[in-house]
Amino acid sequence: MKNFRVAVLANLKKNAPHLEGASFDKWDDLDSESTVEAICAAIRSKGNEAQFLEADETIIDTVRDYKPDICFNISEGHFGDSREAQIPAILEKLQIPYTGSKVLCLALTLDKSMTKRILAWHGLPTPEFQSFERLDEPLDEGMTFPLFVKPSREGTGMGISYDSIVHNEDELRKQLEFILRSYHQPALVEKFIEGREITVGMVGNLIGPVARRIPVNEDEQRIQAGLHFMPPMEVDLQPYLLSDGVYDNRLKTALAADLTYLCPAPIEEEMVDELNWLAAAVFRVTGALDVARVDFRLDINDNLKPYILEINPLPGLAPVISDLVIEAAAAGIDHTELVNMILYTALDRYKML
Ligand SMILES: Nc1ncnc2c1ncn2[C@@H]1O[C@H](COP(=O)(O)OP(=O)(O)O)[C@@H](O)[C@H]1O
Ligand SMILES: [Mg+2]
Repeated sequence: MKNFRVAVLANLKKNAPHLEGASFDKWDDLDSESTVEAICAAIRSKGNEAQFLEADETIIDTVRDYKPDICFNISEGHFGDSREAQIPAILEKLQIPYTGSKVLCLALTLDKSMTKRILAWHGLPTPEFQSFERLDEPLDEGMTFPLFVKPSREGTGMGISYDSIVHNEDELRKQLEFILRSYHQPALVEKFIEGREITVGMVGNLIGPVARRIPVNEDEQRIQAGLHFMPPMEVDLQPYLLSDGVYDNRLKTALAADLTYLCPAPIEEEMVDELNWLAAAVFRVTGALDVARVDFRLDINDNLKPYILEINPLPGLAPVISDLVIEAAAAGIDHTELVNMILYTALDRYKML
């Protein structure tokens, strides 16, 4: 078996730039040293070399010095509306292989409104929505309350709380004002889906036709082939229905250890099939590679109809606590194995094995 030199590219929370007036949750999607150390240890356990490099502008020099065969990329970036795509763009320019999705997918999926336009074009179920760039834009007629207000381009529940659920014009404008002022980006307003919270993780690559279209003919084979689905995970929000009510920043950070994660989620086998197929469809139309996690809400007022909320092509890989890590564990895949599944999927894609 060949050995590889692997640079692990991440943005550590402790190295994040200090920003005057930034929101309190500004850097909540960045990684801890323990996550990066666990990833390096996992890579070394297969006889490979691993070295962490901070994924900021120094990368152009550090990556050239280190001369990796491949980079294990989990960098979220710091600034700009394509921050997750910036390091991959540099690596493309330097012609260095890297794990995970490429520039277009990472820039697209960071922007939830833009992603939803693509999903809607493909007829994939995602809550009706409207994007607000200014506070005084009128609400579209079809957008009936309750609605849900969130930043267009954040993760880890940033900007999301119980107040994100708005029931009238007053609450809507207040929340819009908060998002526009604190996050300096358009606000995404969606129909509020009262329901169960399910997320589906997968590792692999689609091996069917690569065109970014979904087969419309029922007789054609479904498109999942090549993807390894983890068991779906449900976050039990019952205890928080009167406080948080949604999988928000507080639950994803401060209270993460108190939450009950049900994995595999207690849902019917047909529902698991349906969610896997939808997740594969989202993976395909957004052009994801190697790994992703798709978040759903199942509408309790409509027979658990699944709605796609978003796709995360850089899902968290913190040992024990990240959603994808919990899902893998439920399938008997430990953190080390999960990291190497992602790495070897990428190496295989680049035909380096
Ligand atoms: N339209 C919606 N209806 C109900 N809850 C929502 C809606 N959009 C988001 N949420 C809640 O907010 C959480 C975070 O939203 P999501 O779009 O997945 O952003 P993040 O990138 O922060 O995970 C979801 O897991 C869900 O609990
Ligand atoms: Mg999410």
